[in-house]
Amino acid sequence: MAKIKVTETVLRDAHQSLLATRMSTDDMLPILSEMDKVGFYSVECWGGATFDSCIRFLNEDPWERLRILRREMPNTKLQMLFRGQNMLGYRHYADDLVEYFVQKACANGIDIIRIFDALNDIRNLETAIKAAKKENAHAQVAISFTTGDVFTDEYYVNYAKQIEAAGADSICIKDMAALLTPYRTEALVKKIKAEVKIPLQLHTHYTSGLASMCLMKGIEAGCDIIDTAMSPLANGTSHAPTESMVAALQGTEYDTGLDLVKLNEIRDYFMKLRKKYIDSGLIDEKMLAVNPNALIYQVPGGMLSNLLSQLKQAGKEDQLEDVLKEVPRVRADSGNPPLVTPTSQIVGTQAVFNIITGERYKTVTKEFKEMVKGSYGKTPTEIDPKFREMILKGEEPISCRPADLLKPELDAMREECAEWIEQEEDVLTYAMFPKVAPKFFEKRRDAKYGVDGAHADKANGVHTV
Ligand code: CO
Repeated sequence: MAKIKVTETVLRDAHQSLLATRMSTDDMLPILSEMDKVGFYSVECWGGATFDSCIRFLNEDPWERLRILRREMPNTKLQMLFRGQNMLGYRHYADDLVEYFVQKACANGIDIIRIFDALNDIRNLETAIKAAKKENAHAQVAISFTTGDVFTDEYYVNYAKQIEAAGADSICIKDMAALLTPYRTEALVKKIKAEVKIPLQLHTHYTSGLASMCLMKGIEAGCDIIDTAMSPLANGTSHAPTESMVAALQGTEYDTGLDLVKLNEIRDYFMKLRKKYIDSGLIDEKMLAVNPNALIYQVPGGMLSNLLSQLKQAGKEDQLEDVLKEVPRVRADSGNPPLVTPTSQIVGTQAVFNIITGERYKTVTKEFKEMVKGSYGKTPTEIDPKFREMILKGEEPISCRPADLLKPELDAMREECAEWIEQEEDVLTYAMFPKVAPKFFEKRRDAKYGVDGAHADKANGVHTV
């Protein structure tokens, strides 16, 4: 019997999607032991945004959160999201840092690492996959799903085969921008399942109102695991509701085996949190509504609001339509990158410049140049050499794996942040967020030793933040 497994996302993606990742460990703590009894396949609870939010806004040590989650949920696999060679940050890191991060994430409690690359360049995933396997963790590779002429089912099948060959334990179709439709899901899942043996998971968002239908079609087509969120923090820009999916599959060959009564008790808890977040303004009602913009413009919702705010700053919001027409052109010029962090920002910003300056590529952003150069990896299609030359102006393009050009950096990082280190993991926090981490470390020190001591440090010029 094909039993469908469920990954619960309420502790990571759901609150990242609905309330800017502001759920604190204190808000999670009272319900963790109940969640541990449900029998979820895994609970997604850690990733770039949760980590960033912990140190930037919540004044929490993300490593300590992970240890608490591990302690409170001893029977459930804990899952994290990992941007391949970018780890949880925004640049490519040397292999020694990637390996060390994976080692520490697993040592503190992570069981499943979902690894993805914005360009779907398998070379950017290899170090993380190997490191996860070395720690006996489950290495899942997520395909960054996007739409466009290049992104046929065959393109994804080909990537899925590369993922399997690279040693991944499972594959996830990651539709972060809610671009999947039910019948596309069905076709895609069928084709991937026909070509690879490892389990297939489906991650999609409710933004355009199609998530439940996509999951259902995906399940019927052979998908093994689905991502859902407890209903109080589901729908809108989040995921399909866990309880509804469990109910929909109950008594069928796809039964999840999860207990609706138990889930309902957990729902009661999250309903109270939901009310608190709405009352405090953390959840914007707009986020909860169905929004088909992504399907109309074929750009992620977050990218659309970024474009609009960039245009507003320039006083040119009337040119949104022109920018939206320019996006596919810039994308095609630059090798058809999928539109996810960071490529969505890179393509979007360049499209805005092309329109507001009135001349294509008159102003070229540093990031766009780096992407054309190959610094983020290999783009899905070749870039026209003439275009590349025009952008690079004599600089040599890179065709190797970008991290091959990086020297080991762990030791240097340790030295840079030596004064702050209270646990081995701190060097990783610093490496990923070198601007924010010292401020967090300082607050932590203040809390521990009193504010005066920290002021004395500053006066002595021991550190600047
Ligand atoms: Co997501």
